[in-house]
Amino acid sequence: MNLPEKINELKEKEDMVILAHNYQLPEIQDIADHLGDSLELCYLAQSLDADMIVFAGVRFMAESALILNPEKTVLVPALEAHCPMAGMLGPEMILSARAKHPDAAVVLYGNTNAASKAEADVICTSANSVKIVNSLDEDKVLFGPDKNLRHWTQQHTEKELLPIPEIGYCYVHNSLITPESINALRVEHPNAEVLVHPECLPEVQDMADAIMSTNGMLKRARNSSSTEFIIGTEKEMCYRLEKELPDKSFYGIESAVCADMKKTNLENLYRAMHDCSNKMELPADVLERAKAPLQRMLDLSK
Ligand code: 13P
Ligand code: SF4
Repeated sequence: MNLPEKINELKEKEDMVILAHNYQLPEIQDIADHLGDSLELCYLAQSLDADMIVFAGVRFMAESALILNPEKTVLVPALEAHCPMAGMLGPEMILSARAKHPDAAVVLYGNTNAASKAEADVICTSANSVKIVNSLDEDKVLFGPDKNLRHWTQQHTEKELLPIPEIGYCYVHNSLITPESINALRVEHPNAEVLVHPECLPEVQDMADAIMSTNGMLKRARNSSSTEFIIGTEKEMCYRLEKELPDKSFYGIESAVCADMKKTNLENLYRAMHDCSNKMELPADVLERAKAPLQRMLDLSK
């Protein structure tokens, strides 16, 4: 049997479900039970009734799955896959920002570590940041770590969004997706709609027809009368789009690669499932304190 066959056999024997983010390698997307953006993966982790979740993504996503389902087992084939942006905002930075701005709410992007989430009032993702921020009573909001998501959210709210940290960003969206790279694709494909992720630079956001999460891109491409799209996010998003919408064309940026998203492969996926190894674990106090801000996000964005 080859690895995909062995993985499918294990899935049937054990009560396991594979969740994968839209940036995973094609072979992982193909074998996953469900694909999603970071918000949908949270909802899925909570709604599916399998005892074991096998999580193909980066660590903060698997942490969220465990925080929302502490009674389930969450296996992470690549426990070493971190989102570098999540490392840019530690809990102590949040505590000192709170002390300086006691009247501000703290809204953290899902791309943060569990210990930081435990210090937040509410979490958001790129799919719901505007809704979450606008639902708050406070007029001032400490918002981080992504400076570009903050910029985009600020365009859609009257509230004052203060950055924590001063500068936090995703190297893929902030540095590898440039105005020049989008422009080059626009010259080649003048009729294509430009869809970009809000983690992109403001200059890149200004070039877009629409700014949205990865699931938002799929929805937009499905519902749009356009047949060609320039995709300003991690390159593997195009694999999902092409697979789901084979009659439409998608043009991505080949160099926009998230190295940590590529750390999950068929070998470590199979190994974790077979050995029931690589269990996500978090300190009990973090597990408990991070739940309320995450659950508040899910309740607010329904
Ligand atoms: P989405 O929630 O839009 O999938 O984004 C997550 C992410 O890490 C983007 O880089
Ligand atoms: Fe983090 Fe960027 Fe990778 Fe998303 S693409 S997981 S924000 S490094």
